Amino acid sequence: MTASARNSDKTLLTTKSEEFSREIAAVIPGGNDSPFRGFEEVGGHTIFFNRALGSKLYDIDGNTYFDYLGAWGPAILGHCVPEVVAACQSAIAHGAVFGAPHELELEMAKLVIDTIPSIEKVRFVNSGTEAVMSAVRLARGFTKKDKIVMFEGGYHGHSDATLCSQGHQSSAGVPSSTAQETLLATFNDFESVRQVFAKHRGELAALVVEPVCGSMGVIPPNPGFLEKVDRLCKQEGILFICDEVLTGLRVARGGAQSLYEIKPDLTCLGKALGGGMPIGAYGGSAEIMEQLLPNGDVYQAGTFSGNPVTMAGGIATLKLLADPLVYKTLESRTAQLFEGLQNHINRKSLPIQLQRVGSMFGIIFAAKPVRNWQDHLSIDARAFAQFFHKVLSQGVYLPPSSVDAACVSAAHSEDDIEETVRIMCAQL
Ligand SMILES: Cc1ncc(COP(=O)(O)O)c(C=O)c1O
Repeated sequence: MTASARNSDKTLLTTKSEEFSREIAAVIPGGNDSPFRGFEEVGGHTIFFNRALGSKLYDIDGNTYFDYLGAWGPAILGHCVPEVVAACQSAIAHGAVFGAPHELELEMAKLVIDTIPSIEKVRFVNSGTEAVMSAVRLARGFTKKDKIVMFEGGYHGHSDATLCSQGHQSSAGVPSSTAQETLLATFNDFESVRQVFAKHRGELAALVVEPVCGSMGVIPPNPGFLEKVDRLCKQEGILFICDEVLTGLRVARGGAQSLYEIKPDLTCLGKALGGGMPIGAYGGSAEIMEQLLPNGDVYQAGTFSGNPVTMAGGIATLKLLADPLVYKTLESRTAQLFEGLQNHINRKSLPIQLQRVGSMFGIIFAAKPVRNWQDHLSIDARAFAQFFHKVLSQGVYLPPSSVDAACVSAAHSEDDIEETVRIMCAQL
């Protein structure tokens, strides 16, 4: 039975989710542990899920959805992948955490190094936030400089150093002294990078970039942009940190750095790397990574870092992703989705931009393509919210955000996509 058939054409019944949403808000601020999950932007109450399998999500009221959230990135192979489940079950049965090195950690490190050629040595942590936070500290320790440059609207997790941008990338509680150490340039505007570098010559430790921006409308880099930034960083002795927490494994097996001609000094990974288990990783040249304690003097630690269950999930995932067929499937399913939507958008001359790299995509309610933070301000969040709820009621779950990346998984079938296109086009 397809998702839309299951949900029928009537308004979705989500009585239990509504009740639970009220109840959870009394004990967890905002009703969730990560604010992006909330429905503040689109309105209404959140949906509570109790099962995820393949390309589908199942809620507590008995509704089924085609999943295009992909857990905000990790579910690249879909949900409950048998090999990943078996690997994690076996690992937990042998001991969930040792607090000491183990073989799975060694195997996983070798696989990551094999997958991302710019990484000679790697450290595992528990989230993308930790990966970027640690990479920034390492860059500061290595260069003995304090300031970093990032791009307006870029999202690099919730550490103080990177919450100095705009909108939902900023936060009260970040000390102004910390914010002063983070400088902003404009994505896809090389001149803006050159200007910041010139103004702060001798003060900069690193530039941090999401090679494809995933939190302001899915923005690919303009041709040559990242290459020029990488080159300038190398000329100026500033470390080039690629935050591939979302793009790593997702846009290509070797990450965005394999699509563009760049060689980051440090790469941050997370999300898809753990097969659904909480993970982060950062790595780069041996020379830089050796600055970490105990060999060097840059501190990073973690009780659960590199834990066996996460390593097992990651190993199983990386082995499956080594099959080129997975990426062919991801590409053809996402292309199928975009072709169906684009034909409809063209026919009706709708002010909607379809933006994607690989299987991360955005359905952007804007008259013109979005290329940077300023452009992204033109996105019609209200139009998106209406669309979100209309397709939700027909069994399609998108990120509840007009700007964040949606994801296709290798578990989506041609039929899933065909049905999704039918549902979406009927609502546009
Ligand atoms: C590019 C990027 N960097 C860092 C992070 C933070 O990762 P985590 O949520 O695992 O802390 C995210 C999460 O959305 C991200 O998209």
